[in-house]
Parts: sequence; C-alpha cells; structure tokens
Amino acid sequence: MSVDEKATRNLADLLAGGDDVERLYGELQSAFEAERAGVAAEEDLKKLRDRWLGRKNGLLTHTNDNWLKAAPREHKPQVGRLQNEAKRHIEAALEQTKSSLGKDQRGRRQLDVTLPGPPRLIGARHPVQMVREEIEGIFHGLGYSCAEGPEIETFYYNFEALNFPPDHPAVDEMDTIFMTDGRLLRTHTSPIQIRLMERQKPPLRYVVAGKVYRNDAADSTHSPMFHQIEMFAVDRDISFCDLKGTLDYFLKEFFGPEIKTRFRPSFFPFTEPSAEVDISCIFCAGRGCRICKQSGFIEVLGCGMIDPEVLKHVGYDPEEYSGFAAGFGLDRFAQLKYDINDMQLLFQGDVRFLRQFR
Ligand code: DAH
Repeated sequence: MSVDEKATRNLADLLAGGDDVERLYGELQSAFEAERAGVAAEEDLKKLRDRWLGRKNGLLTHTNDNWLKAAPREHKPQVGRLQNEAKRHIEAALEQTKSSLGKDQRGRRQLDVTLPGPPRLIGARHPVQMVREEIEGIFHGLGYSCAEGPEIETFYYNFEALNFPPDHPAVDEMDTIFMTDGRLLRTHTSPIQIRLMERQKPPLRYVVAGKVYRNDAADSTHSPMFHQIEMFAVDRDISFCDLKGTLDYFLKEFFGPEIKTRFRPSFFPFTEPSAEVDISCIFCAGRGCRICKQSGFIEVLGCGMIDPEVLKHVGYDPEEYSGFAAGFGLDRFAQLKYDINDMQLLFQGDVRFLRQFR
C-alpha cells in the first residue's frame, strides 16, 4: 500500500492491519524526501508543497484527519508529536529547497558568458588634447616631427634669442610670470624653436605643443595658463609662399575645405615679414555675426619668416637657410571647433562638460 493510500485510511485500521505509528511516519518522511530530491525548478516546488501541505488534499492534512484525529486514545500523544514533527520538518525542508533554488538560478546567471559584462567607466580625451592630436596629425602628414620643451624658461630662450630687445615692451605686454631666481614661466612656445635649432642642422620641420603662462585674469577668453602650439620649418629656399600654402592647407584640413584664409601684415620680433592669419567665420560662413563681430573673419594665428637675427643666434647662416614659423592657441582652436563659449570650461574639469567629448 502506498503512503497516499495509507494517509486516507483510519489509523486504527492500519494498526489493526499490523502497521506501527513510528514506521508510518517514517514512511511518510522517506516518501517526502524522495520527492523533494526531484525538485529542479520553482514549479516543481510549488507542486510538492500543494501535494504535502495543501489545505484540502495535502498528504499531511489527510494524516491529520485520519491518523491524529482518529487515533485511539493511548496513541494520541505519540501521533500528535510525530504529526507535528513531520509538519515542521516538511515546512523547513520546503523553505530550504526554495532558497537553494534561488541561489542556483543566481549562480547560473553569473556564469552566463553571453551576457554583457558590467559597464566600465572609460575616461574621455580632453577637448584640448583632441585638438592637439588632430593638429599634430595634420603636420605629421606633411613630414613634421613632434617635440616638447621646458615650461620653466630662461629670459634668453623666451625673449633674447627670439630677437626681443631687452627693453622691448612685449616683455611687459606678455605679462611674464618671473621666478625668484630670474627664470620665468614661458609665455609662448616659440622658445622651443631655439632649443631645437641649437641642437641640429637644417632641414628641420617641427610641431611643438605645450602649456604657457601669462599673468592674466581668468575670463571667458583668458586664463593664466593656456596651451599653444608652434610649427616651424627651416631649409634651403623656403619662401613666404611655402608658409602660405602650408597654413592654408592646415587650416582647411582642420576647419573644413569651405573656409577662406586671409593673411594680414603684422609684427613679431622673431619673424620678418610677419603676418596674422584670419579664417572666414565658421559660424556665419563669412556673412557677419556676433562672434566675428560682423567682420566675416576670425583671427586664428600669428606667423612669419623666421628673422635672420634668430637664425644667427643658433649659428645658422641666413644666406644659406630660411624658415617659417607659426604659433597659436590650442584652447582657442578647441573653443572654435567645438563652439565652446567660455574658455574656463576647459580648465574646470567638470565631468558633465568633459563627458560630451567622448
Ligand atoms: N609666440 C607668439 C605669441 O605667443 C605667436 C607666434 C607668432 C608664434 C608668430 C610664431 C610666429 O612662431 O611666427 O603671441
């Protein structure tokens, strides 16, 4: 006779047929354990619970009615104890099975190698760095090499070798920050021209970027620290045409082929002749707007033919060699390229701003 059948029988009849109370409950528990071992999923567990604990037809409900309630007087205490034990055991076992099923499923999920991994925060390049790399890349394509130089400079490299007379107003105009030992924080990247030329003979083609410092108050177009990039070439037979062609090509690569370039005469102590270069306004296509102050043009850089006096300072013969140079602000280029209206945004390190450049 199966436990199912026995559970529907009156205990007195079972005992009369030779059954024993301990053994009956023992069979009950073994049957339960055998069924519990086959549980693999939530729905099996639910079926098992209904089968054993169901209010109407649960096996334990039957034994409660047919064994405990109908127990002969002398068996009552023993049956009561065993019925309780069986109930507690089955309830606890069901709970345990439930929690181990949950764990199992979580475990399986962690092992699913087809699921995407947890997201990793990846840093973004700073817009100034992006502009720097793009510009270096364009000049690299023209055969230029990259170099760097020290941020703490001597008066000689920052001014004198670049043909600034000692009393030149630019020394003040550039708002130089001096150190107590007489050295200074470089006010532009031009001194690196001297350092590189001193070390080698022409031909030379370099693009050099870095931080520069001026004692300026911070506002939407100024900062006491900003970035410049310098490009220069020295060789035989280099003319102003080469300078114009190179910068026109570079600016069109950087800002787009539709822009126009315009060279205006200017003055720098280290170039002769010197020029400032404008591009047609990228915001209004040269029609005139607030940003270009209705002029249709935006000034972007300074340039010129390297002054013969500068070449002499590094021991080059100006009769044999000539060169051109240009310098400009990376921050300003970044502002123009990405339409950033406040330079300070570039230096505040606010991730909400920086994240946009990923
Ligand atoms: N060094 C200049 C400045 O900071 C920029 C500059 C102008 C660099 C003309 C050059 C140049 O190489 O040829 O204002």
